[in-house]
Amino acid sequence: MNKTEFPKDFLWGTSISAYQAEGGLLDGGRKESVADYSTRKEGYADNSVTSDFYHHYKEDIALLGELGAKTFRFSLAWPRIIPDGEGEINPEGIRFYHQVLDELEKYGIEPIVTLFHYDLPLTLQKKYGGWKNRAVIDAFVDFVRVCLTEFGGRIKKFLTINEPDILTMYGGHGLDFAGKEEFAETKLIINHHFALAHARAVRLCHELVPDAMIGPVFGYVPVYPATCDPEDVIAAKNISDIQNSFFQELFLNGIYMENVLQFYEGRCLPPDIEAGDMELLQSAKSDLIALNYYKSDVAKACPEEEEEREMGGNIGGKKGTFVYAKMPGYYEMCPNPMLRRTDWDWEIDAAGIRCMLRDVYYRYRLPVIITENGVAAFEHYEGETVEDDYRIDYHRKHLAACKKAIMEGVDLIGYCTWTFIDLLSTGHGFCKRYGLVYVNRTDEEELDLKRVPKKSYYWYRDTIKNGGADL
Ligand code: BG6
Repeated sequence: MNKTEFPKDFLWGTSISAYQAEGGLLDGGRKESVADYSTRKEGYADNSVTSDFYHHYKEDIALLGELGAKTFRFSLAWPRIIPDGEGEINPEGIRFYHQVLDELEKYGIEPIVTLFHYDLPLTLQKKYGGWKNRAVIDAFVDFVRVCLTEFGGRIKKFLTINEPDILTMYGGHGLDFAGKEEFAETKLIINHHFALAHARAVRLCHELVPDAMIGPVFGYVPVYPATCDPEDVIAAKNISDIQNSFFQELFLNGIYMENVLQFYEGRCLPPDIEAGDMELLQSAKSDLIALNYYKSDVAKACPEEEEEREMGGNIGGKKGTFVYAKMPGYYEMCPNPMLRRTDWDWEIDAAGIRCMLRDVYYRYRLPVIITENGVAAFEHYEGETVEDDYRIDYHRKHLAACKKAIMEGVDLIGYCTWTFIDLLSTGHGFCKRYGLVYVNRTDEEELDLKRVPKKSYYWYRDTIKNGGADL
């Protein structure tokens, strides 16, 4: 391969998830999921209609075809396929995803499919209390078996659980259905169950669809030390171990990092490791690593005698309202004076994606794919298109950094923008838009849901066409 170019078979793509884009909540036999509750927030749209991909998929995939996308990353909604989470399979749900796959095939677009993107069927939450109960792992494996059997002939890249790291660190997304305190106490148990569910899905995939690839999806956030003071370097390492390496080591090597387990002592219950668990985790060898990248962090040392401070998210998109966490004896997070931030205070850092790619690839030596990368903005459509030059700038710089990582030897097989069409953000409604394609609705009103390609859509189309030659 000429290392100064993107590989010829590079998977240029874009991404959505089921609960954030589909809508059609109770259509076609789908039943409720925890996401249908976690997205109900005062002043914001919920996921009942969102971008209505469920009814617009043909039109949307035609736009993907015109874009020249080589891949499309989406998720299969568990409550659409097995509405109660276990037991009866819903033929209409199966049919819907076959129709989506038919459309993708028409345009020669390879599907990359996430098996769990936050939409736990509500019945399982009510019956078992959610992921903290091992019974949910069995139900998930049965769901995966159905997906592999039904779609394994057509889908050759599967991803297991979306961002177990972000879920464990910050909760939400229905994990705290029974209350924030319960989640805070059981988060390592839940994460252990995610890891077991992942491992069993990997093994099942290798057994049932041996020509497919399967792997985890991490939401990696690189951490820089605030200065070259060695204490700041240790602080950055502390939080990076807690939010990044801990999960990669567990999901990819079946190992618990002792320093992170020590950090959690007294803060929450330890993982409920049973006989055979660690062997199972170690036996499940992933074929690829999917990475979602948005931003980087900065940390400095925090003396023991300081007071702890919880992270406070910037929910409303009012720049400067983010509250940086402080963990005495471990780290204090702080803003990066070298970087610009979005309205939601997410640092814009193209070099960070290169740091991440080198770190992950050279530690695990597996093909990597970027399954999410994008920038959010408040946007309005006034007649023609949306002039999102900032998004073009963001993707151009991040793709250029990816290209450098490829030149440095990283086996990066693809890149998906987050998102393809505007959709419901995980915490901030519909007004926090990431799409290459504008969807005409607001948090308050559904409007006509018209699809309008933004300027970034045309830029990405040209970039795909020339194989990233201008990057
Ligand atoms: C990732 C998730 O963590 O971040 C997506 O996989 C999510 O589901 C994306 O939408 C952006 O986060 P947010 O909160 O801006 O929607």
